[in-house]
Amino acid sequence: MTIEPTDSSPPVQIAVVGSGYVGLVTAACLAEIGHAVICVDNDEAKVAGLARGEAPIHEDLLTELLGRHLGRRLSFTADLHAAVRGAEVIFIAVGTPPLGSGDADLSYVESVAAEVARSLREYRVIVEKSTVPVYTSDWITRVLLRNGVPPGQFDVVSNPEFLREGTAVSDFLHADRIVVGADSDRAFALMSRIYGPLASGRYFENSGSVPGSHSLQNPVPLLRTSANSAELIKHASNAFLAMKISFINAVANLCEVVGADVSEVAQGIGMDARIGHRFLSPGLGYGGSCFPKDLKAFRSVGSQLGVNLDLLAEVERINLNQRERFLKKMRDALWTLRGKKIGVLGLAFKGGTDDLRESPAIAIVQSLLAEGSSVVAYDPAAIANAERILGGDVVFAKDPYAAADNSDALIILTDWKEFAELDLSRLRKSLRYPIVIDGRNLYPLEVMRQHGFHYVSVGRATVFPQSHTAGVTKLGR
Ligand code: UGA
Repeated sequence: MTIEPTDSSPPVQIAVVGSGYVGLVTAACLAEIGHAVICVDNDEAKVAGLARGEAPIHEDLLTELLGRHLGRRLSFTADLHAAVRGAEVIFIAVGTPPLGSGDADLSYVESVAAEVARSLREYRVIVEKSTVPVYTSDWITRVLLRNGVPPGQFDVVSNPEFLREGTAVSDFLHADRIVVGADSDRAFALMSRIYGPLASGRYFENSGSVPGSHSLQNPVPLLRTSANSAELIKHASNAFLAMKISFINAVANLCEVVGADVSEVAQGIGMDARIGHRFLSPGLGYGGSCFPKDLKAFRSVGSQLGVNLDLLAEVERINLNQRERFLKKMRDALWTLRGKKIGVLGLAFKGGTDDLRESPAIAIVQSLLAEGSSVVAYDPAAIANAERILGGDVVFAKDPYAAADNSDALIILTDWKEFAELDLSRLRKSLRYPIVIDGRNLYPLEVMRQHGFHYVSVGRATVFPQSHTAGVTKLGR
């Protein structure tokens, strides 16, 4: 049911438990739309940094929001009980990392629920914001009851997030939809008060509001569902998006064989409004802290409930295969990899973030190191994190041209905007051989041809420089 909001309500006192990507962005954005928010984390050093306005993650607009609301509508604490006691609504936004089995580890959610139970004195709404499998809201309810909270003194609501790293603040404030899975009208009324400024469009009238696709005339839709449906919406959304990416990657592989161009194919299928253009970029496959983990967890939920979700196993297989195909393209272009110096552009799992979790780029660098290549890598934001993972095995460059300097080839692994705007003449002069293998299709083929590159991308024809093809017609074509 889509709800028409009526809102002119007073701010809500909110506690957000967890200050990771989701918790921190949620806390800052809830303060931005007018609420009084206290964000709790048990890491005291992190709380101290946040209280000074230092964002521990690379996230567009987050530092601005911290600066705007800190000490006024937004504060940080390590004291869960104090935070919860003063709050009408408690968002749980702690991590749900994958277990070896593929299931999400819900032990942090459980222990926060038990802690919260000890502090409840009057009616409160507990909101699960962490990505969790279906039935988690039932489990949270059970934990609260077991810890002595009387029924009627709380409600549990599922309010999944659809935030992409790098654009999380805009995704929150200009969401495609807000999903509130509430089985109780009382809890839903409180959630409507919280999201009222977005769902009525009133927030977008403020002079300093973050600009984006929504406005007073075009507010954010608010969808009320059952708690179970909301939990499924989150997992099913991520699974569908991952499936779209694997689909276009499979089509790209077919394009390579038949000599078609995947950008034309994606454009053609994306013009069908039922399909749409977004999430049809082929490449090295999806990574990050969400899609790989959520697909595994969703499959596991299916198998526990006797529902076959093997479709998703194929999505995962295609995804991992993209890395192998990329390494094969490197061998086709360079013959052997042992002893070669490879310039690498991009380490993060996608552009606009410093996050390396499940990054295809890191997996490829590790494969190159295992094959005996030497690697000089550049990333605009992720080098400090990469040093911790790759240590002394990789040389880190200060810019893209330094990564290319005297390298046997340059490979593009992350779709950073600045990698699509390189000075190609300078790049060609920096490289030992003008070979660019692009896992993210950042350049038009014609541009690379004009600059004399041997350019290999995904689902498109390989460009060969004139001088390199003379007398060599059978290799790597
Ligand atoms: C994803 C979802 O997009 C969010 O809606 C969701 O809230 C979030 O997971 C989550 O569950 O918390 P995120 O992981 O930040 O967000 O990143 P995306 O922008 O979705 O990209 C995921 C991966 O897919 C990246 O590795 C990206 O390079 C890849 N991708 C994306 C493609 O290969 N092709 C595309 O067309 C789009």
